[in-house]
Amino acid sequence: MCWYKKAIAIMLCASLAAGMAGCSMSKAQDKPVDVEEQRAQFALTAQNRKLAEDGGVTRTPLLETDGDILVSADCPEIPQNQTVSAELKAFVDGEVQQFKTEASDMGAPDEKNGLYNFTLTYKPYAVGADLLGIKFTETAFSGKTDRKNYIQTFSYDLKSSQRLGLDDVFDSSQDYLTQVASKVKESLVRNEALKENMDEALLNEGVTPTIQNFSNFIITPEKKILFYFNRGAVAPVEAGAIEVCIPLAELESLLNTENKAMILGGSSAAAGAEAAEGATQEGEAPAESEVPAEGDAPAAQSVELDLFPTGDNFMKPHSIDGIDINGKVVALTMDDGPSKNTPAVLDALKEAGVKATFFIIGENIKGREDILKRAYDEGHEIGNHSWDHTSFQKISLDDVLSKQIGRTNDAIEAATGKRTIIDRPPYGAMSKDLAAQIKRPQIMWTADTEDWKNKDADASVEKAMNELSDGGMVLWHDLHSTAPGITKKIIQKLKDKGYQFVTVTQLMQIAKLRGDDVGYYFTRAPKAEAAAGDTN
Ligand code: NI
Repeated sequence: MCWYKKAIAIMLCASLAAGMAGCSMSKAQDKPVDVEEQRAQFALTAQNRKLAEDGGVTRTPLLETDGDILVSADCPEIPQNQTVSAELKAFVDGEVQQFKTEASDMGAPDEKNGLYNFTLTYKPYAVGADLLGIKFTETAFSGKTDRKNYIQTFSYDLKSSQRLGLDDVFDSSQDYLTQVASKVKESLVRNEALKENMDEALLNEGVTPTIQNFSNFIITPEKKILFYFNRGAVAPVEAGAIEVCIPLAELESLLNTENKAMILGGSSAAAGAEAAEGATQEGEAPAESEVPAEGDAPAAQSVELDLFPTGDNFMKPHSIDGIDINGKVVALTMDDGPSKNTPAVLDALKEAGVKATFFIIGENIKGREDILKRAYDEGHEIGNHSWDHTSFQKISLDDVLSKQIGRTNDAIEAATGKRTIIDRPPYGAMSKDLAAQIKRPQIMWTADTEDWKNKDADASVEKAMNELSDGGMVLWHDLHSTAPGITKKIIQKLKDKGYQFVTVTQLMQIAKLRGDDVGYYFTRAPKAEAAAGDTN
């Protein structure tokens, strides 16, 4: 019955880590690449990249787009710690230099593959005041090297400025590696997304208990340890880079007693008595991934709707703070992306100051992780539109949950850091019964642009405007090249009519406040009384 809890434990703790991709040009292409477009797109992506500043980490960006080589490198800097900053800078400089040398050795790039390109970015993980992890993700195409989402991690004790290795995290007087290796293997074997790509010999080799195999790790403030395996390390290259997450509570007795307090978020100076105390409590806590973390309650102004999955790896319903629920509202929804047209849609939304909801196709994410992350970071809502657009009514419930929704959520989580809480069933093929079995909101729509048929922005907008009313949802596809035009035009028309733009989770809350009994199958909010006489 409780598929959900089981699924969380599996999905949270072993997901495909596609990471943040840069401009990947390695895909075989028939037509020559438009290098000026590539250059512009590369620069735009680099300039728009927003990075977390956990633990006071600041970003020093490097962007070079001249000649045949595109380079974008984000270098983390810790202003209060010159030693660590210098070490990280040396790593970044070294990677950039190596790439440049390699690319210049290859001569002029071939026009099918476009310009040589290199993207190095990072994510900081601050644990308490003293422990800082940096996860670098590198994507590079030099003609010789074709690297996607290559991950390299660094962990530091900021107090001593020492880089931390596995022996600093775990108690080297115990055989911790064997136990860590067996937990990692267990997690990989359970990973739904890996099943198709399982190579047992490779897996066994990759998880042999050696320091080297497990040296790519990050400790998170949520008291988990993440192990990274680059392409081909534990599974065939098609599986990409893989992240395995283990709650530290499961490895409690193996932690290095000297550093335990720091690892669990305390101060390294407070090690000793406090560490021992913390240990008992932590040891008895259930694995974090199985209990919703505190602070998961929706924001103060949002409405209680217990339809959404909760847990620290899930996105949150958007707050309805500031929305006049008696005024006219509409949700803009786009399906089937991310695609090459999505950035222009995001530009249009940004210019208009409007938030939309994107329902993502899992298999379209690869190579466009940056686009998806940008949509999420810019405050749009992200929903799940299946892995490969298979009708949920034609496959088993298990397959809907694991192969379609679960697998897509793994990829969305790898790109954005969070899993979605709403779905749009492909073709709208859904019943109230099935939605209740899936136990996740299944989102329909009320106005269809039929953009795929109209192939024209004006005709699409006109079609949808005739069907749209207060409380409704309009659908188009950011997959198609008409999407940016539709976005601009429909926003203008709706603004002229006095509509407020809401995301789907906001619309669901508004539906409840307007008196609807909101369930897992959701089509629209009732019209507001104030707007009841207005058909538009
Ligand atoms: Ni679709």
